[in-house]
Amino acid sequence: ADYQLFSSKIIRWYEANPRELPWRGISDPYKIWLSEIILQQTRVAQGLPYYYKFVNAFPSVKDLALASEEEVLRLWQGLGYYSRARNLHACAQYIWSELEGEFPQTYLELLKLKGVGSYTAAAISSFAFGEVRAVVDGNVFRVLARYFGIETDIGSGRGKKEFEELANELIPKDQPGEFNQAMMDFGARLCVPKNPECDSCPLHESCFAYSKNMVKDLPVKLNK
Ligand code: ADE
Repeated sequence: ADYQLFSSKIIRWYEANPRELPWRGISDPYKIWLSEIILQQTRVAQGLPYYYKFVNAFPSVKDLALASEEEVLRLWQGLGYYSRARNLHACAQYIWSELEGEFPQTYLELLKLKGVGSYTAAAISSFAFGEVRAVVDGNVFRVLARYFGIETDIGSGRGKKEFEELANELIPKDQPGEFNQAMMDFGARLCVPKNPECDSCPLHESCFAYSKNMVKDLPVKLNK
């Protein structure tokens, strides 16, 4: 398969269909981290007002570190999964007091933060620092399984590894953040689980699932 064709098409789709989101086009790792923690278990529409509230109340990691936990939890009210807010606060304090306020700058350093897993570390390192690390989640499994015709069970360890390796081969070295953001949006808005809009998809000509009429069958998720 032509990897470069896929990557350039997906980025072109993204650039033609931008969502104006406040954490786009910025490079402050603190704000990007804040947005990614909010979006971990929350939809964009629901997360947006919280992102604004937090950035206004705590414009820097220092402001968040010096806030009381009570205040942080109060602002988080209504979002659920409160461990995210407690981790956010604890990380800010750690960065402020142990790292002299300097936000971690690499995927591996970011992974050490509480509440930051591989997806979030890949997002922050690529958006803020241009590191070449692919985000991999359910959206990415679905898009890649359909486009490349991969039938490996996405619930298996082998499947996860296969998709992760493929995503990391596809991500262009000169536009890692654009590619990751494009994959997130493409999976969330066009290549959706049910009734995707294949007819208007700019990638359908070279999509395996579309040409074989297998969109409904991919990705494969075997029952546990
Ligand atoms: N979901 C997780 N991270 C996101 C981002 N940066 N933009 C849109 N949706 C997301």
